[in-house]
Amino acid sequence: MTEQKDRPKVLIVHGPNLNMLGKREPEIYGSTTLDEIDAGLKELGEKLGLEAESFQSNHEGAIVEKIQSAMGTCSGLIINPAAYTHTSIAVRDAVLLLDCPVIEIHLSNIYKREAFRRKSMIADIATAQISGLGVHGYYLALEGIAKMIS
Ligand code: DQA
Repeated sequence: MTEQKDRPKVLIVHGPNLNMLGKREPEIYGSTTLDEIDAGLKELGEKLGLEAESFQSNHEGAIVEKIQSAMGTCSGLIINPAAYTHTSIAVRDAVLLLDCPVIEIHLSNIYKREAFRRKSMIADIATAQISGLGVHGYYLALEGIAKMIS
């Protein structure tokens, strides 16, 4: 088996309040916890020959710095910026630093909810967007990146 360090790295970034998944509005976001999602992504990454590294923060600057650290080291970014989707030029500018496929993901369908959620600051610079498929969207995103970089 390929050593983990030799595999292309995919960074998965989860924005604010996603650490509360499982407890947070389960009728919208489901009952799966963030640890369960990340464990599933790690396992799928192994099957796909990728190293999936997950990161969550409730702080905009920490998210910006994590994205910056992916410059030149990551083969793909999967990002659910959560509420920062709708507000953060700083996250958008950090994503613009990367030269790899970027998939924006949302558990809920942001176009079926309040009007303020319909605007995404990164949709037009992302390679693709997945919105409304719940946890499954993360796994599709990882498969999509595996295909794009193979
Ligand atoms: C979300 C949608 C955002 O509007 C919201 O602020 C979130 C989660 C989603 O995954 O559906 O925190 O990004």
